[in-house]
Amino acid sequence: VPRTKTSSADPMASSPGVVARARRRTVVGLLPVVVAAVVTVAACSGTSGSGTAAPPGTVSSNGQANGQALYAAKCASCHGADLRGTDRGPSHLSKVYEPGHHSDASFRAAIANGARQHHWAFGDMPPVSGLSPEEVAAIIAYVRTVQGEKGFEPYPPQ
Ligand code: HEC
Repeated sequence: VPRTKTSSADPMASSPGVVARARRRTVVGLLPVVVAAVVTVAACSGTSGSGTAAPPGTVSSNGQANGQALYAAKCASCHGADLRGTDRGPSHLSKVYEPGHHSDASFRAAIANGARQHHWAFGDMPPVSGLSPEEVAAIIAYVRTVQGEKGFEPYPPQ
């Protein structure tokens, strides 16, 4: 009498060998997930290369500090992801932040020391910690690039 696979009388179905094989298949099936998790962890820890606590994505694939991601992580909460300001800080596209008015040095100083309220009424800017000189340079380069692309808003705002 030919046995069918689903028959409960099939001695193979309950044999330890079959169970073990099924378990192995499950483990093999999970392998890509495990590998992906390990790769993700490795990629994230790679972003803290210079010893600073840079969040994921702040170092681009070529190893350069990623000004856009750093700006998003460290400045956008007050200055806006689009640089146009929030209720906590001014727009970096204001004419007052043109290179001629606020040089790269004034950006470095604001990050290192903070800035007293003087152009606006948002309060003081606190110092921003955890940025290497390379990361600060990348942020400034990013701001200058966006300023060049989008142009400046009048100051005082109209
Ligand atoms: C907690 C909010 C906050 C964060 C975060 C913040 N800023 Fe500011 N920033 C301000 C405020 C408010 C001012 C306006 C001070 C004033 O009245 O002129 C300001 C002003 C500045 C100025 C002008 C300083 C000057 O000399 O007048 C620069 C440059 C600047 N921010 C750059 C940055 C950069 C770059 C980052 C991120 C690395 C950053 N800010 C993060 C709130 C913030």
